[in-house]
Amino acid sequence: MRTLILALVLVMSEVAAATPARGGEPDGGRPLFHFTPTKNFINDPNGLLFLAGEYHLFYQHNPEGDRWGHMSWGHAVSRDLVRWEHLPVALREADGIMIFSGSAVFDARNTSGLGRDGQAPMVAIYTGDGRQRQTQNIAASVDRGRTWTKFAGNPVVDLHSNSFRDPKVFWHEPSRRWVMATVLADERKVRLWNSRDLKNWERLSDFGPAGSRKGVWECPELFETPVEGGSPGESRWILKVDVNDGAPFGGSGGQYFVGRFDGKTFQNEPTPRDEPLWIDFGKDFYASQTWNDAPKSGGPVWVAWMNNWQYANDIPTSPWRGAMTLPRVVALRRTPDGLRIAQTPVAGVESLRGAHRKVENRVIKAGETRLDVDKIEGAALDLVATFEPGDAETFGLKVRCGAGEETLVGVDRRAGTVFVDRTRSGTVGFSPHFAGRHSARASLGDGLIRLRVLVDATSVEVFANDGLVVLTDQVFPRPASVGASLFATGGGARLRTLDVWELRK
Ligand code: FRU
Repeated sequence: MRTLILALVLVMSEVAAATPARGGEPDGGRPLFHFTPTKNFINDPNGLLFLAGEYHLFYQHNPEGDRWGHMSWGHAVSRDLVRWEHLPVALREADGIMIFSGSAVFDARNTSGLGRDGQAPMVAIYTGDGRQRQTQNIAASVDRGRTWTKFAGNPVVDLHSNSFRDPKVFWHEPSRRWVMATVLADERKVRLWNSRDLKNWERLSDFGPAGSRKGVWECPELFETPVEGGSPGESRWILKVDVNDGAPFGGSGGQYFVGRFDGKTFQNEPTPRDEPLWIDFGKDFYASQTWNDAPKSGGPVWVAWMNNWQYANDIPTSPWRGAMTLPRVVALRRTPDGLRIAQTPVAGVESLRGAHRKVENRVIKAGETRLDVDKIEGAALDLVATFEPGDAETFGLKVRCGAGEETLVGVDRRAGTVFVDRTRSGTVGFSPHFAGRHSARASLGDGLIRLRVLVDATSVEVFANDGLVVLTDQVFPRPASVGASLFATGGGARLRTLDVWELRK
């Protein structure tokens, strides 16, 4: 009997722990157009590859619980990057070795010899973590990623290190080799390798430390990106590497370097005082990766884990914990400071647009101007707003409003910044690192200011200066908090136009 009671108590406390802090109904507040696993914990996107009409998304996953652990590769596929089909776990922890982050390629010419029956293989390159060691390993699939066989000769690279991980591999046509970026995480170095067959790897060069030298470096990626408006075919290489802990607003974040790659060495165009370039100025953009072999659509497409290691294990969602950002097209834009990343949400999100409303020429007096006369409501919205700054000090939109909850997306003219303020966005008390205002310097000028804001059940993503300035932040309001309004402080502003689409599947 005592065991039964104990079991009951345990079950009850499990249920209590799993009850969402918001809403109450199961799955209340699940994102509509952001990838989430059916249940349990996820972190980094892994193995991103486009093959035979499918965008593959593998991801760091704990199949057994809603906190980090037992890392394996979960798997989903999509044809449009916004509607996902869940597939069984692809690569599982085994013999005390966890499957850490990595990438996947389509080995069309069967350089690895891991194809079967004339079928070229998909090859996953991942870090095996266990027994105080991190090594690089490969596995192959000849059924479009549905089932996998780990290579008998693993590991393929072993430095006898416990801080050597996150292989991202791509085919480098000029040298006719596979190129792999890895990190020596504690040394804040990216180490590049190449190979003819994905099994034998030769060391090429090291990059770093540089830029942000705080914390550890993780999830490196080297990829070529077109220069917007450049001469035909003009491109540069981006070396992206994530930093934990050391991002602008604390915790984890992604930095990048712009430069050239000759097949062996990456050489960056230096920034003043070696200042880091950050990809995103919210707190929830980490471990991004681009899709290998994706159809050309203006530039590489990447997705990131929409979270921060400061509170990833504590966010108030259930039965899933963790989501991906909306995938974005990456371009390089010329700015007075040099070439910088500009991001555009993938076009697929526009296929989710439902009811549309337009608001024009609305005076925004100091204080709050409600928009609900126009019945602009919904947990998932795509908003495009153009403002005339007037004499306001700050102005902008409030989204996910309701009963004491609001999330501000605004412009601070004196500071010259665009910001997201999630201080009162709903459930914020699960971590001292969550509530706050995150802002990014933007070029505001005196003319019109355009913001695109994508709102979902647990996030806001803000694109300013045509994608040059991006902020991604999770928010956890009650599912019923779906109002939107306008605000201004210290003076007035004007909303020139606002287009709002409700997003739905
Ligand atoms: C980044 C990271 C990687 C590692 C994985 C483990 O978030 O720490 O460096 O491979 O997560 O889940």
